[in-house]
Amino acid sequence: MNNNIPMDKNWWRESAMGIPQIITETPGTRSQAMHQNTSRFMKGLSSQVKLFPVCFEEGYGITLTDVDGNRYLDFSSGIYVASLGHCHPKISEAISFWAKKLMNAHDFSTPVKEKLMEKMADILPGNLNAIQLYSDGTTAVEAAIRAARAISNKHEFISAYRDFHGKSMSAVSCAQMFRSETFSYGPTRAPGFYMVPRPDPYRPLWVKADGTIDTDAYIQFYENFLKEGTVGNVAAFVLEPAQGWAGSIFPPDDFFPKLKSLCEKYNILLYDDEVLAGMGRTGEWLTLNHWDVIPDIVTFGKSFGNGFPVTAMVVKEEYAEALEKISASSSYGGNPMACAAALASIEVIEDEQILENVKQVGDYFMKRLEQMKRDHPIIGDVKGKGFLLGIELVKDKSTKEPFLEAGISVYQKAFRKGLAWIPAGHILRMSPPLIMDEHYAKLGMDIIEESIWETEKEFGYTQ
Ligand SMILES: Cc1ncc(COP(=O)(O)O)c(C=O)c1O
Repeated sequence: MNNNIPMDKNWWRESAMGIPQIITETPGTRSQAMHQNTSRFMKGLSSQVKLFPVCFEEGYGITLTDVDGNRYLDFSSGIYVASLGHCHPKISEAISFWAKKLMNAHDFSTPVKEKLMEKMADILPGNLNAIQLYSDGTTAVEAAIRAARAISNKHEFISAYRDFHGKSMSAVSCAQMFRSETFSYGPTRAPGFYMVPRPDPYRPLWVKADGTIDTDAYIQFYENFLKEGTVGNVAAFVLEPAQGWAGSIFPPDDFFPKLKSLCEKYNILLYDDEVLAGMGRTGEWLTLNHWDVIPDIVTFGKSFGNGFPVTAMVVKEEYAEALEKISASSSYGGNPMACAAALASIEVIEDEQILENVKQVGDYFMKRLEQMKRDHPIIGDVKGKGFLLGIELVKDKSTKEPFLEAGISVYQKAFRKGLAWIPAGHILRMSPPLIMDEHYAKLGMDIIEESIWETEKEFGYTQ
C-alpha cells in the first residue's frame, strides 16, 4: 500500500476554483426527475432532502456537483462524515488497495488492523485503549450500552433531553428526538432509561444571580435525581459532548469536569458519544479533550473513515474484559477496507495539521457569527467550536420564540445560491469539511448572511 506518499495538502484547491457555480434553476430538471424516480421506492427520507431534492453525482474536496452540472460549496461534509474532503486521494487509495486485496477476514488480525490499533491507542487520551470496531454509529452506541452494563453490573442509564445517539432501541431510549409514531406503536423508551435536562447557555433552566447559567444547579439536580428518581442502579451517564442534531449546542466549560466528579462520587461511568463531534471536528481528537475530561467509554464515527462506514467503541484498559463478556465483535467491524480508511484518515489529520486548521478557521467562524448576531434581528444565538457551528433563529430576541419558517427559508435560499448544507429547523447547523480555509469559510458565510438578509426582508423585519 502506497500509504506513505506525502500528500500535498492543497490537493483539493484546483477543483474548488470558481465555486459555487450554479448554471440552472435548482433543484434542476434532472435532479427533480431522479429524485421523483428514486423516492417512488426509497422512503423515510430526511426533511432536508424533501425540502431541497437535489441529486449529487460527484464530490471532490470541498466541491459537490449535482446531476445538472451545478457546483456547490460543501458546508455539510455529507452528514458530518466526509470531513477531510470528498474522495481524499490518500484515503480513497487506501480503501481501494484493500478492496482489491482482502475484503473481510472475520475477527482475525490483518496488517492494516494492527497499524490502526496502535495508532488509535496513540491518539486517544489516558488509557482509553480497549477497542472494538463497527460499521455505523448506532451499533457502536448499542455496544457501549452493553459494555457499560457488563463493566458496572448495573442496568440504568441517564441521558439528556435533545441528545441524539442513533436509532436502535437502546440508542433511541437515550434520546428525546423520537415521537411514538417512530415505533409505529408503544412507548419510545425501554425501562431503566431516564432523561435529565442538560445546560444550554442560551436557554438555561437555572441561572446564577449575575444571569449566567448555573452549572452547579444542574449537577445538584442530577444528584437529587440519582438519590430519588432512579432505582439506584445507574450504570452510566450517556451524553454527547456537544449536542449535534439539536443544533451545535455546547455546555459551559465547567459542566463536564463537574459531571465527571459526580460520576466518580457515585461510582457511575461517563459514556461520551462522540460519533458526531469527535475525530477533529471541534479542533481536538475528542471534544471532551477541550475540558481535560477522560470518559470511561467513548464512541466515534462519521469523520473516522471519511465516508467509509467505520465506527469505534472504546473503553478504558481496566474495563477491557467487558468487551469479552459482551462478545463485542460484528460481521463488518474492522474489515480491512474500514481499517485502511480509518488509519489513512488519522494520518491525514496529522500530516495536514487539520486540528490546527480547525482551531484557526474556527476562530474566524465564531467572530463572524458573533458579528452576525449583532447585525440581525432574527439571530437569537450563535454557537460552536471549531467546525461544529450553529445559528439559532428566533421571531423575537426577547421571547426567543423559535423561527422555523425562517430556518427553512434560509436553508433553501442558500442552497439555491450554491451552498450544500443541512440545517435543523430553526437552528442553522454548519459542518464544513475540516480542510476548508478562511477564504471558502468566508464565501459560505457570505451566502448564509445574504440569505438571512433576504429572509428578514421577506418576513418584514427589514426594508
Ligand atoms: C451523537 C451520535 N451518536 C450516534 C449516531 C448514530 O450514528 P449512525 O447514523 O451512523 O447510526 C449519530 C448520528 O447522527 C450521532 O450524531
